[in-house]
Amino acid sequence: MKKILVTGGLGFIGSHTVVELQNEGYEVVIIDDLSNSTIDVLDKIISITGKEPLYENLDLKNQESVQQFFKKHNTIDGIIHFAASKAVGESVEKPLKYYHNNISTLIYVLEGMKSNKVNNFIFSSSCTVYGQADVMPITEDAPFKTAESPYGNTKQIGEEIIFDTTKVSNLNAIALRYFNPIGAHESAKIGELPIGVPQNLIPYVTQTGAKIREQLSVFGGDYPTPDGTAVRDYIHVVDLAKAHIAAMKRLLENKNNASFEVFNIGTGTGSSVLDVIKAFEKVSGEPLNYKIVDRREGDITEAYADTTLANKELNWQTELNLEDALATAWKWQQTLK
Ligand code: UFG
Repeated sequence: MKKILVTGGLGFIGSHTVVELQNEGYEVVIIDDLSNSTIDVLDKIISITGKEPLYENLDLKNQESVQQFFKKHNTIDGIIHFAASKAVGESVEKPLKYYHNNISTLIYVLEGMKSNKVNNFIFSSSCTVYGQADVMPITEDAPFKTAESPYGNTKQIGEEIIFDTTKVSNLNAIALRYFNPIGAHESAKIGELPIGVPQNLIPYVTQTGAKIREQLSVFGGDYPTPDGTAVRDYIHVVDLAKAHIAAMKRLLENKNNASFEVFNIGTGTGSSVLDVIKAFEKVSGEPLNYKIVDRREGDITEAYADTTLANKELNWQTELNLEDALATAWKWQQTLK
């Protein structure tokens, strides 16, 4: 049984990935410092899978602890590295926090891997590396645009650090560039934990549906898109989790074509904010109170993935659609009331 370390394994995407790894028979070790998660997620993972992952509450910013971790756990076959801060707005306010949380920790993990001869690494990247791409759908060879935020910059720099490291070591790495991850596990035992006023669309929609928020503001009705609202590629978090298993398998079976590879992970379908609202109203049976307001600063017009490469090379396809994702997000929301 292969042993996989999942950093940030109690977070939103991390917890869903741990569930899928355990379902596939992998042994899992989780590192999470609970900075944006809670310990009861561990119990929920156990209750979904019937298996208990090893768990270490460890701050990856502490280089010494990272080295000690690798000495203690010296039979790890691969790492899926989620642990990072992800709030775009906060990253503008606190750039050093983001560079420290997202870059220092990446370096310490890569150093720990090197000294312990762990060579398989999956990195959480983001479609944010493309900025407003010139051509839709976006392929992996679209160029990086100047990052809109320190958060986005940490994903660009992170990929570059990993690429440079693969050139001079035995490291094999895959960066998965996620489009917009949404939804929750069908059991509604794990999902995205809401902290404060949601900045992202889906938690705002479900909280408005649940009457926790009065009205959703739709940011911008004058984009050059079919209905005037901005278009994104919303991917169900369970499909996204499965992409990590496919990518890890590729590395463990030495099927990668290069020591550093990148794949877009999306559905390939663009949905506007109004499409999301309509789909939510359909699956929840609730009318949604919304109003079109000015555009949000820093937002792009549209981003959706060309997933041809991931479909072919990872032998991975999405199985769930926008309505499936919104139905689970809504079910999850109702457990939070
Ligand atoms: N939106 C609203 N109202 C809201 C919240 C969002 O209309 O209350 C709109 C946004 O303007 C955007 C769309 O819904 O058009 C999606 O917004 P999200 O905040 O959910 O997602 P973003 O596409 O802005 O952000 C995502 C990831 C980030 C990443 C960014 C890169 O969540 O991690 O893409 O573009 F950095």
